[in-house]
Amino acid sequence: MLSAQTDLKNAQKVKEFLLKKNLIDQDYNIVKEMGFIYFPIKKKVKITHTKIVDTKFSFPKKQRDSTIGDLLKNQLTKAESKIIPKSQEVIGTILLLEIPEKLQPKEKLIAEAHLKLHKNIQTVVKKADAHTGEFRTRKVQILAGKPAKETIHLENKVKIKLNIEQVYFSARSAHERLRIAQQIKTPEQVLVMFSGAAPYPLVIAKNSPAKIVYGIEMNPIGHTYGLQNITLNNLQNKIKLYEGDVRTILPSIKQTFDRIIMPLPKTGEQFLDIAFTKAHKGTIIHLYAFLEDDQINNYAQYVKNIANQLTHKIKILRKIKCGQFSPSVFRVCLDIKVEK
Ligand SMILES: C[S@@+](CC[C@H](N)C(=O)[O-])C[C@H]1O[C@@H](n2cnc3c(N)ncnc32)[C@H](O)[C@@H]1O
Repeated sequence: MLSAQTDLKNAQKVKEFLLKKNLIDQDYNIVKEMGFIYFPIKKKVKITHTKIVDTKFSFPKKQRDSTIGDLLKNQLTKAESKIIPKSQEVIGTILLLEIPEKLQPKEKLIAEAHLKLHKNIQTVVKKADAHTGEFRTRKVQILAGKPAKETIHLENKVKIKLNIEQVYFSARSAHERLRIAQQIKTPEQVLVMFSGAAPYPLVIAKNSPAKIVYGIEMNPIGHTYGLQNITLNNLQNKIKLYEGDVRTILPSIKQTFDRIIMPLPKTGEQFLDIAFTKAHKGTIIHLYAFLEDDQINNYAQYVKNIANQLTHKIKILRKIKCGQFSPSVFRVCLDIKVEK
């Protein structure tokens, strides 16, 4: 095999030169033999302190992790390989795929390949539609593996049990949940409106000095998972969950909160009036919305106007892009301080 042979003393310089000229054959490992270094090269080249030799030995091939493309190279056309979905979401042991229409005839093959590739995945499903309805749930279709829709997801030191079809959950919001938890520096009383299977309450209770976290969820299945998750994580002393509509439940809770989280991005601002009834001067509200980049400032102003109409004064502390809803639409969190 064609190689560049040099001694140990010059090896680093020769390597840098070959890399810069993109001459190293990256499919093979470099060999050290009898005090010489051999670089596998793509073509002959003149370099000082280096001999170009055709070695008698073969260079060892580099081990590289297989990709879906590798596993399917004989079953997909070139055009199909190019549109294999790159972004996937893993919830517990379930992998969720978005399959482009053109790949649907090959979706089972793709799902089987994912099962082979990811040892921690037991089920591969396809997202059958977007989140809809007041519970923000969505249908999925099982493509390969165990026919299970319930799983336990691990994130930020907590276990979250849920059925991916019966309750809303996004693994992609893990970082955002921790961002909120890390803002809590004292034994705050926290309210999570729209708590689902309780990911925010769990992450906050586990990762912050919050004294107590209340959650309200009107999807009965989501609420039941929330209760199970409190036990699963042994957080009975720090989380209290209520089942029902926030408008019905909140008036019966006779206290205000230091922090109120409102993770209902499509219509969250419509609940600011009820949130303000449970806020005091200094309360921080985290309000989520789906917005394009150039809508964020207008939305912040709109929220200020709503507060004014409700005779409250607020300060927008931060506008955080914390997720992507579609190519141009972000999940945005406004961190808001109640000043009056
Ligand atoms: C986008 S999901 C967020 C769930 C959870 N906080 C999470 O991040 O995984 C919104 C949740 O709010 C619940 N919800 C919607 N309107 C509600 C209301 N008026 N009162 C209580 N829960 C509500 C839905 O059932 C859904 O579970």
